[in-house]
Amino acid sequence: MVDEKENEMVVTPWEVRGRVDYERLIREFGTQPLTEELRQRIARYTGRLHLQLRRKLFFSHRDLDVILDLYEKGIKFVLYTGRGPSGTVHIGHLVPWIFTKHLQDKFKTRLYFQMTDDEKFVVEDELKLEETKNFAYENALDLIALGFEPENTSIIFDVKDIALLYDIALEVAKRITYSTARATFGFQDSTNIGWIFWPAIQAVPCFLHAKLTGENVPALIPAAIDQDPYWRVTRDIALKLGYYKPAQIHCRFLPGLGKGGKMSASEPETSIFTMDPPEVVKQKIWNAFTGGRATVEEQRKLGGDPNICTIFQYFAYLFEEDDKKLAERERQCRAGEILCGKCKTELTERINKFLAEHQKKREKARNIIEKFYIKR
Ligand code: TYM
Repeated sequence: MVDEKENEMVVTPWEVRGRVDYERLIREFGTQPLTEELRQRIARYTGRLHLQLRRKLFFSHRDLDVILDLYEKGIKFVLYTGRGPSGTVHIGHLVPWIFTKHLQDKFKTRLYFQMTDDEKFVVEDELKLEETKNFAYENALDLIALGFEPENTSIIFDVKDIALLYDIALEVAKRITYSTARATFGFQDSTNIGWIFWPAIQAVPCFLHAKLTGENVPALIPAAIDQDPYWRVTRDIALKLGYYKPAQIHCRFLPGLGKGGKMSASEPETSIFTMDPPEVVKQKIWNAFTGGRATVEEQRKLGGDPNICTIFQYFAYLFEEDDKKLAERERQCRAGEILCGKCKTELTERINKFLAEHQKKREKARNIIEKFYIKR
């Protein structure tokens, strides 16, 4: 019997549960689908589309068309994204960051990256402030390891940089009523008041560039769709404060290695963390849920189902750049010509190669992290 409660879709900035129906999210959140026409408009500036766009990992947006209209008129935009440092980074978090780097390279824009050590302290009962501050530092190393440059990337550590953020946060907070915040975020009587104020702080980097440079330009936010509620309230008040409404480009969730659900740090067995050693990665992938059949004979005869296979999705979204090779893997799987063991072994090799490089770059980032600290 299907457990209705367990299957029920919940997508909030703090919880993602059940089978995620992305079409339904577009309708319920009131975002726009990322159309072929819009993808082609992006390609005019980026050349060949990034694989996360080609394979429709990024699937929805708000005002991306407006951002491109303005860009065509000579008004640039800044990029903004972030991380809630409640633990170590997993490869799902890297998805929007890799895409952000691509946009930054192609459009030559500044990135503001917010490390929300304050958010994770107020939201997570068991975390101490020193811990979230420390995770913020450690998680920033993962960001830098992806190749961002200090010249056009500013990392905001909320607790350290609060003096920079506070005046704008107050302007934002004053214009959002409790009833809007409760309806948007589902606050309860038991929710602590730090958490209730918190969305005002996540809004600030949308507007920070104007304060720092005097240039009033819009922000474009690449992130998974779970962060969208923040932008709904921020967009409502942006014009009142004299700023552009922030625009978004939303991605799907990289799934965990289990059956259903996004990759999430709360399920470490089915998540691959950037600091995982090779044997651990191998073990996790070996236990992964695939689209394979119960026996080798059945698989040879009936073929597998890449649509439901976590391993195939990791190839598609991160680890197979070549469209032809991906299509061939899919064909072989469906035809029963390739077994799950082979895909698992190949994926393990690719992930471990990527992580070995990433971990080296991450260590080197310790020497340059201060260059990324936001300057006033
Ligand atoms: P956090 O730490 O929950 O997530 C960081 C970023 O990773 C995305 N994400 C995923 N993307 C693909 N697959 C997954 N399985 C997956 N899990 C998480 C999130 O959407 C996010 O983009 N409150 C925020 C921090 C923040 C922020 C921002 C995020 C502050 N300002 C601006 C995005 C944009 C948070 O806790 O993110």
